Amino acid sequence: MPTVQACLFDLDGVIVDTAKYHYLAWRQLANRLGFDLSLEQNELLKGISRMESLDIILKIGGVELGEEEKLKLAAEKNVRYLELCKQITPDDALPGVRDFLDELRRDHIKVGLGSASKNAKTILTNLDMLSYFDTLVDGNRVTKGKPDPQVFLMGAEDLAVSPEYCIVFEDAVAGIQSAKAAGMIGVGIGEASVLTEADLVIKGFEGVTVSDLFEKLK
Ligand code: G6P
Ligand code: MG
Repeated sequence: MPTVQACLFDLDGVIVDTAKYHYLAWRQLANRLGFDLSLEQNELLKGISRMESLDIILKIGGVELGEEEKLKLAAEKNVRYLELCKQITPDDALPGVRDFLDELRRDHIKVGLGSASKNAKTILTNLDMLSYFDTLVDGNRVTKGKPDPQVFLMGAEDLAVSPEYCIVFEDAVAGIQSAKAAGMIGVGIGEASVLTEADLVIKGFEGVTVSDLFEKLK
């Protein structure tokens, strides 16, 4: 393994569990349109941009709408989502992730965010974790969603590190595909049976040290 110079983190499902709030807000919208959204269907939306998520949801409900109406609904969903996100506090960081980031800082390894979310900055602020990141690449900057490598390539460029020296931490299949397409090392957060294209899969950061992880990647 080449010497790691940067670590790029997805947000939802890696640093904090916001999927539950996305679900509540999308479900409310679906209910209003006359159908329901299951937790299983919500899985399809992980790592997917807001407008693409809306398209998937409307397809589930068999609802067809014009562009203007869709933009209005997506904006309404976001207002509700942000209301729910107000309850996020520093205690909501997923177990072990803060220690892991502290260790990266001590080791002078650069840290970036690579998320499809347009709300990434707000959420990191609520978690009081903004200062860990040397760069943020979020839904306001990318034009191509995961599995396209753009999000992570932008992060590497911001940090002036070649892709082969970057590790990406991702919980979504499309996110791991994005990392691999960027020529980076992809560490999956979740189940190995799901994240089959990852170079390594861990359940989460609890009890995981940077040196242990690098050792496992050798
Ligand atoms: C993340 C989440 C997706 C969400 C997307 C856009 O990738 O996993 O579920 O749709 O961000 O989030 P936003 O906050 O911009 O609506
Ligand atoms: Mg994610």
